[in-house]
Formats: sequence, structure tokens, C-alpha cells
Amino acid sequence: MDKFTSPGWAYWIGGVTIVSLIGLALFLRATARQTVFRDRNGQVIATTGHVWDGDLQEFNNPLPRWWMGLFVLTLVFAVAYLVLYPGLAFFPGVLHFTSARMYRQESKAYEARIAPIYAKYNAMPVAELAKDPAAMATGQRLFLTYCAQCHGSDAGGSRGFPKLTSRNPKNWLYGDASATLTQTITDGREGMMPPMAAAIGEANVPAVANYVRSLAGLSHDAALAAKGEPLFATVCAACHGSGGDGNQMLGAPDLASKTRQWLFGSSLAAIESAIEHGHSGHMPAQRSHLEPEKIHVLAAYIYGLGHGERAADTQ
Ligand code: HEC
Ligand code: HEC
Repeated sequence: MDKFTSPGWAYWIGGVTIVSLIGLALFLRATARQTVFRDRNGQVIATTGHVWDGDLQEFNNPLPRWWMGLFVLTLVFAVAYLVLYPGLAFFPGVLHFTSARMYRQESKAYEARIAPIYAKYNAMPVAELAKDPAAMATGQRLFLTYCAQCHGSDAGGSRGFPKLTSRNPKNWLYGDASATLTQTITDGREGMMPPMAAAIGEANVPAVANYVRSLAGLSHDAALAAKGEPLFATVCAACHGSGGDGNQMLGAPDLASKTRQWLFGSSLAAIESAIEHGHSGHMPAQRSHLEPEKIHVLAAYIYGLGHGERAADTQ
């Protein structure tokens, strides 16, 4: 905290607190003591001697006892609290309580409680775990926490972020085998396609883009596509394969698939832009903040999405 403010503030606020408490105690003592009032002749009177409007007098009554009692209790409570807990910034309190430590203790207790469950899951192969509804529910919670912001809460993907529910293994960038999924999640992935217009010649970009569309069975200009074919074979096939059917070692997508969800769109303009500017996808490694047991459950969850009994999603 003293990175942001001068430690002098702690003493200032602590001082104000202590002085206020002492002040209140003294004030309470002063008001509790019943002062005796006398009239001009020295006789003790029941009022304070103040008179308003001719006949309105103020009686000299002490504060009610219950009210005094409550006030004393709040003071005692305040003092006890400040002794036990870190209420005065320069004194940590005899219990040495910190909310950070409490959080750590609670998380540790929680981890200890769930450790046996994760140990059980960890002993099961991914494909088997994917059939366990309780494990899948845990996997979904982990997915919503750590993955959904990029891949979507239904793992359906979005522009630049691949869909993770495809049941066709060829439609995955890196494949959907259990070991591949575990590796992807643990170590992350860098998909890299450099700008390619210079390699094929700027003027040939539309021709190659039309050829790519022809591979995917999309409408295209046949003459341009025929012109693009040999260029694709010499330049693009190195990564995307000779028939454009991708390379999962490189994360180069299968451009010939008729069912794959395109990362950046299949329009002529989108494909031309991919060739002109290239693309790069960064899947962050999770091992820095997720234990292997959690990654194992996540891999099973993704495996279940691709291989499971899920709806009629055959893409
Ligand atoms: C910051 C965004 C981001 C987050 C968070 C993220 N991913 Fe990814 N993920 C990506 C991107 C981008 C790719 C594609 C990488 C590429 O282009 O090569 C990817 C690729 C993948 C792939 C490979 C898909 C394929 O087609 O082969 C899997 C599996 C995957 N992510 C799972 C996960 C899981 C599980 C989590 C949560 C633990 C997660 N991702 C969190 C951005 C993210
Ligand atoms: C060095 C390897 C490499 C070369 C060469 C290469 N690509 Fe790619 N390409 C990739 C990778 C990897 C991706 C995925 C990028 C990502 O993950 O964001 C990709 C993505 C694409 C996409 C976007 C696909 C989608 O789903 O939106 C198109 C289109 C594409 N490439 C076409 C081509 C064409 C045409 C050529 C030849 C001119 C070519 N690529 C050359 C590796 C390559």
C-alpha cells in the first residue's frame, strides 16, 4: 500500500482513530456525571436553570442507563477489535490476520478437498474420462473460466479462434487426438502464415484465391482458378498440402474441406486478404497457471465435444 501513498497517512489515520476513541470516552464520562444545579439562593434544583418562552424548563436528567451501556459496549468493541485485527495501519493486530492469508488458507483447504477427485480423473485415459458426466461438468466449468473468452462458451469459435466441436478430425488445425489436445492446451500453439503475395506475384492473388475457393467447392472463376493451380502447387502446397488439404504438424488448415469452419471467412476478399497479409494465431500455453490434472480434464472435455454423442453436428 505504501507504494502508492506515504506511510504518514497510516499514522495520521491511526492517530485520529485513537484520539477519537479517547475523546468519546471522556465525553461519555462527562455527560454521565450528574451535575448539581442550584438556584440563586444556593438551593439544589431539579432543572438546569434554563428557561425558554417563560415557562419551558430543561430537567437535569442523566442519560438513560441502557443508552450509556450501549455506548460503553461500542467503545469496548472498538478497542478489542483494534487490538485483535489490523485496524490501525501501523499495528497488524495480535491475531496477525490478513485477508490474503485467509484466502490462501481457504484455497488450500479447497484444493485438498478436490485433490482426490482430480487424482481419480488423472488415472483415467482422456477418451474414457470424456464419457464421465461429472468430469465433463468439471471440464465445462474450467472451459468457461479459462477458454470461453476466446473459443466461445459453446466452443463454437469465432473469427481467428478455431471451433473446438468439429467431429471431423481433418477439420482441426492440429488434430483432435487426445495426446494432441493435451499438448495444445499445455504448451499452446503458434499458427503462422506469412504474407504470400510477393511469392506468387501480386497480380496472381485473385487467381490463387479463386483456386482456393474451387478446392472448397465454392463458386469461382474457372479460368482464374486454372491459372492459380500451379502457383498454389509451388508456393502454398508446402504448408497446405498438394490438394490444399492441410498439414496438422504446422496447423495449416485444410482449405479443401467442405465442412470446416473458416477462421477468417471463405469469401474471395477474405482469401485474398489472407494471401496478401498472412495470418497468425496464438493459442496461449496453459501450463503456467493450470495444473496437469486440470489440463487433463480440459483435454477430455474438448475430446468429448469432438467425439461425443453431441447433437447432429457433423462438421
Ligand atoms: C487468448 C485466446 C485463447 C484462449 C484463452 C484459449 N485459446 Fe485455444 N486457441 C486460440 C487460438 C488463436 C488458436 C488457434 C491457434 C492457431 O492459429 O494455430 C487456438 C487453438 C486451440 C486448439 C487447437 C484447435 C485445432 O483446431 O486444432 C485447442 C484444442 C484449443 N485452442 C483449446 C483451448 C483450451 C482448452 C483453452 C482453455 C484452457 C484455450 N484453448 C484457451 C486462442 C485461445
Ligand atoms: C508457411 C506455411 C504456409 C504457407 C506457405 C501458406 N500458408 Fe496459408 N496458412 C498457414 C497457416 C498456419 C494458417 C492458419 C493461420 C492461423 O492459425 O491464424 C493459414 C491460413 C490460411 C488461410 C485462412 C484459412 C481460414 O480458415 O480462414 C488461407 C485462405 C490460406 N492460408 C491460404 C494460403 C494460400 C493461398 C497460400 C499460398 C499463396 C498459403 N496459404 C501459404 C500456413 C501457410
